[in-house]
Amino acid sequence: EKAGFEHFMLKEIYEQPKAYRDTMMGRLSDDGRSVQLKEIGMTPDQIKSIRNVHIVACGTAYHAGLVGKSVIENLTRIPVETDVASEYRYRSPIITPETLVIVVSQSGETADTLAALREAKRCGARVLAITNVVGSSVSREADDVMITQAGPEIAVASTKAYTSQLIAFYLLGLYLADSLGTRDSEWIAEVLEAMQQLPEQVESLLSQSNVLKQVAESLAKHDNLFFIGRGTDFAVAQEGSLKLKEISYIHSEAYAAGELKHGTLALIEEGIPVIALITQEDLYEKTLSNIKEVKARGAHVLGIVNGGSEIEVGKSVDELFAIPKTLPLLTPALSVVPLQLIAYYASLARGNDVDKPRNLAKSVTVE
Ligand code: F6R
Repeated sequence: EKAGFEHFMLKEIYEQPKAYRDTMMGRLSDDGRSVQLKEIGMTPDQIKSIRNVHIVACGTAYHAGLVGKSVIENLTRIPVETDVASEYRYRSPIITPETLVIVVSQSGETADTLAALREAKRCGARVLAITNVVGSSVSREADDVMITQAGPEIAVASTKAYTSQLIAFYLLGLYLADSLGTRDSEWIAEVLEAMQQLPEQVESLLSQSNVLKQVAESLAKHDNLFFIGRGTDFAVAQEGSLKLKEISYIHSEAYAAGELKHGTLALIEEGIPVIALITQEDLYEKTLSNIKEVKARGAHVLGIVNGGSEIEVGKSVDELFAIPKTLPLLTPALSVVPLQLIAYYASLARGNDVDKPRNLAKSVTVE
């Protein structure tokens, strides 16, 4: 059932090209130039009446929601807040009938996420669920349901479910932008064209896994490390850090690169590994200056860049890994893959039970 892979996690990492294709399938027009979401029952008038969006989820799904916030805000200019469900439900969030609440859950059974959904409905909001499981509690109770077609995810550490959630957010963001007229059809068609290249680009990333295995084996000797990034790179940094912690048990922190000097820089000392995500062209200069700050204190920096910027960034880092070139908006769907592989190989190098990390359960149905 592991189809020749040593662990479910590795199998699921390798299933991502298929998960991307399956999640896009049936959701594009015949010519591939626009998004059609038949599962969304909102009328154009209802979409136009959305005043704000709340994205609510736990763990890795929350991290997908952080990317979702930036996608929806960027494409529609509707204000979006992303919250962890266990906080959202107890902070008496300001939910009105003009709020669209998006809950994200692989299993569709996470107790806090389900409770947040119920609270949103009680306040009269429309709830859209992004979930991987047809017939799950979340899918039955939401008004609109987008199923991520990732297939069953067995490993405790979520990989293909997360990336399929990103694909769902891109499709949803484009769909809303089209309905609202905030982006023109030519621009949308270009993004969709780039999205359709993602599966092959993931395949090409996966073919470089031995490089990442070597990186992971040297990281596995450390007890602390940092991930830094800005914008969506920061969102992906948080997911990379969680993945590493949960299966390798190496302590790591993800930091917004510009926030380092407000305290955390004190922890940077000789030899500490820093994984810097630097895929957003408009933020290069800013993140590069943060990389210089950590390097000046002896950090060993692995830079993860968008294809084409190797020379520009290469001089400032110790090691470089380039993802295949894609639009800045879409880099999370590629840049997280090397981080998943680093976490996997670091866990392996430490002799851990990769698929069943200590203290964790696949589905958290208690509060
Ligand atoms: C981490 C992980 C968890 C889940 C979280 C939410 O790899 O898998 O953080 O993402 O427990 O689970 P779902 O998405 O099923 O609600």
